[in-house]
Amino acid sequence: MPNTTWLITGASRGLGMETVRRLRQLLQTPTNTVFGTCRSPSTATELAALVSSPGTLYIVKLDVTDEVSIKAAANEVFKLLNGAGLDYVLNNAGINRGDDLAFNFTPSALSDMMATNALGPALVSRYLLPAIERSDRRVIMNMTSRLASIGSDYGTIDACYCMSKIALNMLTYKQARQHPDLIPIVLEPGWVKTDMGGPGAEIEPA
Ligand SMILES: NC(=O)c1ccc[n+]([C@@H]2O[C@H](COP(=O)([O-])OP(=O)(O)OC[C@H]3O[C@@H](n4cnc5c(N)ncnc54)[C@H](OP(=O)(O)O)[C@@H]3O)[C@@H](O)[C@H]2O)c1
Repeated sequence: MPNTTWLITGASRGLGMETVRRLRQLLQTPTNTVFGTCRSPSTATELAALVSSPGTLYIVKLDVTDEVSIKAAANEVFKLLNGAGLDYVLNNAGINRGDDLAFNFTPSALSDMMATNALGPALVSRYLLPAIERSDRRVIMNMTSRLASIGSDYGTIDACYCMSKIALNMLTYKQARQHPDLIPIVLEPGWVKTDMGGPGAEIEPA
């Protein structure tokens, strides 16, 4: 059976952590390999606890706002893949500082959210492309938000977050148009009880 390979950003907690936990079921199959990336592997204890599985989980340091870190992570992943392809990339890492409106926001809030939620995923996919191209699946999943849907009309809230996720949606479209051999898609998880979603959210991470 061919090996199946996955890379997930922001795997230290929230939806990224939960995705790795679910993939752990896949890790019961020894032919699955997961790269769980996070900013601080030394403090990602919950993620580290998932390492002992029949399949392989590698924890890779990656800060999506730091191009040097993304390049280093990509090189580490290339080495570990040893010529194999990367089948699924989940650009999950994201931030929402909240409390901003179209006429009331700080430049740092907008630039931080654009850096993390749009530029980060763009660079992650760009630097991982050689490995993605070696796969016969080639799936890039960009974690968007329903809040970024103009048609859904969510009103004034989270203007900077929504701008960054709309940029991510457009990135996904452009990736698909530039590389019709890839499958770039956006995922929308619903309103989930994570640190970002808060305890009042509608659904559990699982
Ligand atoms: N929760 C929801 O209701 C909801 C709804 C729609 C979309 N989403 C999207 O789903 C994704 C995950 O959200 P979540 O609810 O799981 O959020 P979360 O609980 O706040 O977790 C965010 C994750 O992103 C990581 N991260 C943040 N900045 C990073 C950076 N610069 N480099 C690398 N990792 C970074 C965090 O790592 P650290 O532990 O190092 O901080 C953490 O692992 C996000 O893209 C979010 O926009 C969430």
